[in-house]
Amino acid sequence: MNWLIRDYREGDLAPVVHLIDTTAELGQESVFSLAECIGALTGRQPAVVAVHQGAPIGAALATVAGERAWVMRIAISSGWRGRGLASALLVELERRLLAARIGRISYVLPEEELLGEGLLNAGYTRQPAVAYFEKSEHLHGSAATLLDDLGGRYLAGDLWGRVAGMEKEKDLIERRVVLPLAQPERAARHGVRPPRAIALFGPPGTGKTTFARGIASRLGWPFVELLPSRLADEGNLSAALRSAFARIAELERVLVFIDEVEEIAPVRREPAQPGGMHGVTNELLKLIPGFREGDERLLVCATNSVRSLDPAFLRPGRFDYLIPIGTPDEAARTAIWQRYAAGRPDVDLPVLVAASELFTPADIEHAARIAAQAAFERDLGVSGQAPEGDTAPGASTEDYLAAIAQCRPTVTAEMIEQFGADITAHARF
Ligand SMILES: Nc1ncnc2c1ncn2[C@@H]1O[C@H](COP(=O)(O)OP(=O)(O)OP(=O)(O)O)[C@@H](O)[C@H]1O
Ligand SMILES: [Mg+2]
Repeated sequence: MNWLIRDYREGDLAPVVHLIDTTAELGQESVFSLAECIGALTGRQPAVVAVHQGAPIGAALATVAGERAWVMRIAISSGWRGRGLASALLVELERRLLAARIGRISYVLPEEELLGEGLLNAGYTRQPAVAYFEKSEHLHGSAATLLDDLGGRYLAGDLWGRVAGMEKEKDLIERRVVLPLAQPERAARHGVRPPRAIALFGPPGTGKTTFARGIASRLGWPFVELLPSRLADEGNLSAALRSAFARIAELERVLVFIDEVEEIAPVRREPAQPGGMHGVTNELLKLIPGFREGDERLLVCATNSVRSLDPAFLRPGRFDYLIPIGTPDEAARTAIWQRYAAGRPDVDLPVLVAASELFTPADIEHAARIAAQAAFERDLGVSGQAPEGDTAPGASTEDYLAAIAQCRPTVTAEMIEQFGADITAHARF
């Protein structure tokens, strides 16, 4: 063990990079790239180097993010492997991390490189059933800034899966919208043109925004929401829309969402009303054809009031599909209630489903929250009820029923009737 382990110094960069490089040549890969390692070293992140007769023979480097450090690499010169140097480097690296008050250390490394029992002996616990996923997005610098400017971002990858129930709507959107966009070549072979613009309509709280976000997440495209109220702050709404669409055109792929679109594209009345939206509607009509020319882009507009939209705005050629999103049926309500009551297998779902007819997902979310709050207060004994009765954590069937009784569904029978008429008059899919 005639080596010495010391802090990394500036002059070590070239030999350490060489060590990392030769380790990589042996087929040892890391989740951190060489460029990221160099960034950490030059950025003065914790690193230690083992030297033998003055020459570096091994190095361990970490990067600190908040209260956690990630071990990026332990690189060892080929002649020195299998002699305990890796463990020695790790111990020294940990010592520095602890001195910097970092107590949580993670190390992600390929299965074949688990350092034998070394990591377990060093006090690391292998997390069961963890898989490391990685995806590279080709987002060059300017596109990232552009996206920031537009208030856009990439959403979590599992939003689509988190839309509970609503199987009919999900299935329709999956087939008509997601699949042709995700597989444009196969769609083209059959003469299917992927949609470029769709409108989702339906009563408030049924999940239109949730679906729009779900589609972006499912496609892995960034999500840009155009908020008319924010665009109007820039002064002239028409000009702001034009400028937003010009910036959007520079993005490689994007889902653009406009909520409550009836506010910016209402039925135009002749003659144009002073202070009306005539000009803005016209502007949007002009912008859509340009937007439609690009591949890998989708405009999703949502509205509670499809009947108040300008008919020219919605015509085929501008909007490919007009998809109704209604209140959840029994199966969908079951799936949504199930989501909230997951911790309590004794909750009587069919009873909740029957008691929550006409409830939207938003109403169910609200009722579930009231029920959870009741269970919490009972547990603390602040509700005046003795906690003995029901001690299981989470809301019980009775809590849910009491909460449902307190909530008025947003959607009335009359709205459902109107929605039915809107489907007949407007739906297209
Ligand atoms: N299928 C679903 N499963 C679980 N939760 C849902 C589902 N759909 C919607 N929600 C929840 O219900 C709430 C309302 O959904 P969302 O905002 O998407 O409705 P919306 O139709 O866009 O409403 P609005 O017309 O008012 O804009 C959100 O908190 C959302 O998380
Ligand atoms: Mg919405």
